[in-house]
Amino acid sequence: MSKIVVRGGNKLHGEVNISTAKNSVLPIIAACILSGDKCIIEEVPMLEDVFVISDILRSIFADISIDKSTNRIIIDTSNVKDCDSCSELVKKMRASFLIMGPMISRFGRFKLSLPGGCNIGTRPIDLHLKGFSALGAEVNIGHGYVEARAKKLVGNKIYLDFPSVGATENIMMAAVMAEGETIIENAAEEPEIKDLAKFLNSMGARITGAGSGTIHIIGVKDLKGSIHKPICDRIEAGTFMVAASITRSKIKINGINEEHLKPIIAKLTEAGVYIKVQGNSLIVDGNRDLNPIDIKTMPYPGFPTDMQSQMTGLLCTVRGTSIITETIFENRFMHVVEMKRMGANIKIDGRSAVIEGVDKLTGAEVKATDLRAGAALILCGLAAEGETEVMDIYHVDRGYVDIEKKLKGLGADIERIQ
Ligand code: EPU
Repeated sequence: MSKIVVRGGNKLHGEVNISTAKNSVLPIIAACILSGDKCIIEEVPMLEDVFVISDILRSIFADISIDKSTNRIIIDTSNVKDCDSCSELVKKMRASFLIMGPMISRFGRFKLSLPGGCNIGTRPIDLHLKGFSALGAEVNIGHGYVEARAKKLVGNKIYLDFPSVGATENIMMAAVMAEGETIIENAAEEPEIKDLAKFLNSMGARITGAGSGTIHIIGVKDLKGSIHKPICDRIEAGTFMVAASITRSKIKINGINEEHLKPIIAKLTEAGVYIKVQGNSLIVDGNRDLNPIDIKTMPYPGFPTDMQSQMTGLLCTVRGTSIITETIFENRFMHVVEMKRMGANIKIDGRSAVIEGVDKLTGAEVKATDLRAGAALILCGLAAEGETEVMDIYHVDRGYVDIEKKLKGLGADIERIQ
């Protein structure tokens, strides 16, 4: 198993390019099922999660070719069959549940292994299922599977108890070919929802309002193949913004969308980091005296839970008391124990982490407990005195393209050891 070794203390400098967003690409790949045709996704981040969802589509007979030299994926779903998926891969990645909506829509039936919980929380799927039922599907759970059947899906008004990203995406995909109009209220507003709707509309869907709390979908008879380039990864960009801040360095981050980064820019600015937007680039200068801040994770446009662990790492290096409250996932503080091994002073109080900044972090052997936790530990390693070994790096490979190469390009002393 590979690990990343960081020798801390180097200042970062130079420029880094941000990849397209994993959390856009995964639902978009699932959406290709709806076309029964050929779709092309451009500039795909070549990540473990992308390979897993591609393998899941192959298990239902999609033909997928991944060209790593051009970062292009061609997905032909014309041979996808009305079959069950008992692929073990579904248990490996929760986002694989996103094929449920497209499969019910296309075949009126699908049976899939139930996704389990994961390190960051129990992560139920009740809102996805509530949406499928509202569209007229009969949903049954048993023997580790969930099955949905519908003679015909019919549009309906669906109010989500919580603006779940995955449920909004799955219901949107189930509804695009349902008869009549579907309205999703209290929908998730994340930029990835808007990107998925843009792709679906390019296939012939009639979706309006995506990116707001109310999404209207007029069902169409069928969809055709399309070509799409996903949006840039706001969480990867945020992670590099913290890399500059935690090392008190100045770097340029290219390929960003300022609108999507507003909550992260606002909080880093409040902490005293200087940030300047230059078109699709950002100058981030963390070489200043930083102040402690309080953060509460919220659905978009609030502060993203996917940036919580990285900000925890940064605030460990900022003198004074900061409080981070996690409201999205009930178990997303696993990185705290690991950061404490590096000398961090953090106390967990219910859903909040109370952080007392320390003068310095010290290198240690630590374990990535999930994707973002792993990235946060690498960031802490950049600032720590001595050597940090981040184990279980496969978590990080699920969501960051060449993280160690990009950091090395900025001057970090970092290497991957297989
Ligand atoms: N929830 C329910 N019932 C449901 C669905 C969700 O109670 O039916 C709860 C979850 O348990 C959680 C909260 O709602 O407590 C938010 O879950 P959501 O459905 O919004 O998250 P998701 O779709 O499972 C996506 C991202 C996550 C990101 C969250 C929140 C993808 C593939 N994953 O997950 O990304 O943290 O939205 O923004 O888009 C990551 O990239 O590291 C990551 C975990």
